[in-house]
Amino acid sequence: MADRATIRRLNKLREQINAHNHRYHTLDDPSISDAAFDALMRDLLAIEGADPSLVTPDSPTQRVGSAPSERFVEVVHPQPMLSLANAFDPAELAAWHKRAATLLETDAFAMVCEPKIDGLAIALTYEDGRLVRGATRGDGTRGEDVTPNVRTIRTVPLVLAGKPPPRMEVRGEVYFPRDAFDRMNAERAEAGEPPFANPRNAAAGALRQLDPRITASRRLDVWIYQLGWTEGSSGPATREPTTHAQVMAWLGDFGLRVNPEMTLVDSLDEAEAYHEAWLGRRAEVNYQTDGIVIKIDRRDFQRHMGFVGREPRWAIAYKFPAEQATTRLLEIRINVGRTGALNPYAVLEPVQVSGVTVRQASLHNEDDIRRKDIRVGDVVIVERAGEVIPQVVGPAIGYRTGAEVPYKMPERCPSCNTPVVREEGEAAHRCVNARCEAQRYERLKHFVSRGAMDIEGLGERLAGVLLEEGLVKDFPGIYRLEHARLAALERMGEKSAANLIAAIEASKRRPLAAVISALGILHVGGETAELLARRFGGVRRLAAAAQEELEAIDGIGPVVARAIVAHFENEGNARIVDELDAAGVRLESDEAPPTATPQPFDGLRFVVTGRLERFTRAEVGAYIKERGGLVSSGVSKKTDYVVAGVDPGSKRDDAERLGVATIGEAELVELAAPAVEPQRPVAEPPRGETP
Ligand code: IVH
Repeated sequence: MADRATIRRLNKLREQINAHNHRYHTLDDPSISDAAFDALMRDLLAIEGADPSLVTPDSPTQRVGSAPSERFVEVVHPQPMLSLANAFDPAELAAWHKRAATLLETDAFAMVCEPKIDGLAIALTYEDGRLVRGATRGDGTRGEDVTPNVRTIRTVPLVLAGKPPPRMEVRGEVYFPRDAFDRMNAERAEAGEPPFANPRNAAAGALRQLDPRITASRRLDVWIYQLGWTEGSSGPATREPTTHAQVMAWLGDFGLRVNPEMTLVDSLDEAEAYHEAWLGRRAEVNYQTDGIVIKIDRRDFQRHMGFVGREPRWAIAYKFPAEQATTRLLEIRINVGRTGALNPYAVLEPVQVSGVTVRQASLHNEDDIRRKDIRVGDVVIVERAGEVIPQVVGPAIGYRTGAEVPYKMPERCPSCNTPVVREEGEAAHRCVNARCEAQRYERLKHFVSRGAMDIEGLGERLAGVLLEEGLVKDFPGIYRLEHARLAALERMGEKSAANLIAAIEASKRRPLAAVISALGILHVGGETAELLARRFGGVRRLAAAAQEELEAIDGIGPVVARAIVAHFENEGNARIVDELDAAGVRLESDEAPPTATPQPFDGLRFVVTGRLERFTRAEVGAYIKERGGLVSSGVSKKTDYVVAGVDPGSKRDDAERLGVATIGEAELVELAAPAVEPQRPVAEPPRGETP
């Protein structure tokens, strides 16, 4: 599908979106409506969704996660958040050290070496030991208030231990733990969604979610690496330490997560050795690093040295070399995914890439293989971009002997021999045989997996055995398994069989989002399942939803909506729902389903503008959505209310022009309260604070 016209369209879309983003976020002067912006974004997502190999780290889709429709409140950093100069080789590092020695008039200065975390910078403000704000770096001067999201990171203390200064800001890096990142990308791939190109973008996307519950589901983590500023320190108890190493220990005592890998060194040689050692060890830790940071330890030295532009002279990032290697591509094999997509992958002569042995690499699809002109037998360049799943970058043409063979997708499914089809506009070739064993196996594996029905003890191997033995033919079959038959299986036994039966029983009460995800609907991954669960409160209501109803959900586009409708229109799939129901699997949410009991804001569209007093932007969004309302960022004729705070700007004018009602935040809360809907309980206070 990725022909020239598509690529042109893709580039054009990115260019347009970037320009509009800039106008909107930086200039605060949008030139198109938000709906028009969303449409551009949806088009881009559709192209990338159909061919994930087109996703690049700088694509606007990677920056914002999915559907951006609202803004966070801007934060002006009391002290700018700086960036770092880079050194890529020993000579550049030595030059930095020499300059430092000249400025300090000595070369006897200690330095702290620490891993450079590949995530995104965050500033955390604490007042009287309580977390009051989390802000992104933004452009260094202005960032975004992401406090509700930061609160979901479990290693960010909400209250500090000990006696911290009355006000202080610490800085660090929020990152995606490697295991969580791999899991999420695998899940996205399964759901047919484009994978995140690197953990940095994924972390940024997660942190900038308007719905903190999504951030929470992403399991982000943080390392604190710097003291921003303090205020009101007085008395010996709160006196600030004088070196970076001491500051870190001090912050650690407050309960902040400080990386224990930080090491004090006295010479450049030791710094080199640290760099070297990390290069070898980086694959062992659960976070991604792209180099080390070397900082001059004494804070008075730091102050003396100052900055050039946005970069301190007292610190430098000493980067790791690019992670590429060359090896021979032995064979191209196909894995049939659970949606029937034929996924080609390269079998490689094993090669070390940044300390990890790579044997296989993904190849996306036939077009991608052709575009890169990758042939079987080629010497290829393999890369682990941001340490994600290895990719074949392309052939090393110089090694060609002429014996290399261009690749052609098989015409039949390698598992069931059904002729494969490639639908108009789709990058993937698919096996459309719903009974295909390979698909059945993948679907079953997915159904029992962790984010889905989470049946402990039913792993990949057993799933294969159950299918082969004919014990399970479809999902409901799992709930008909009998103890005696299981116990008789090889490598089973009485006890494991009993445990498995218990685990299957327990899986009947999984959260609704997990059940929806387990069904394996095309394009519906964990996150979309979460949205659907919240909106419909039950599988049956979801199954009955119309295309338009689905599309009206923030974060669901036409492609996904169509896939959901098609899924439940299929008789086999509908029967599976009935049988799961009959087996006692709970298909309803614990929470009151939003469509069953009418909500005060059901079907109402809101636009929020200006600074509010009781709510942050994220909070007011959540408040409205929890009550059944929709939040959009541009005023249109469809808007029901504009909620205006201080300095509302052009959106209030838009409302006036279009005859849309403008209300204040007090009226918003009133709207949700019993005066309007007498049978409902009193609306909670927006922040839901417990004293
Ligand atoms: S210190 C003034 N230490 O790298 C110095 N930064 O490329 C501020 N980073 O914006 C940064 N790990 O987001 C420092 N151990 C570490 C770091 C680190 C990652 C990030 C940080 C910074 C970027 C600059």
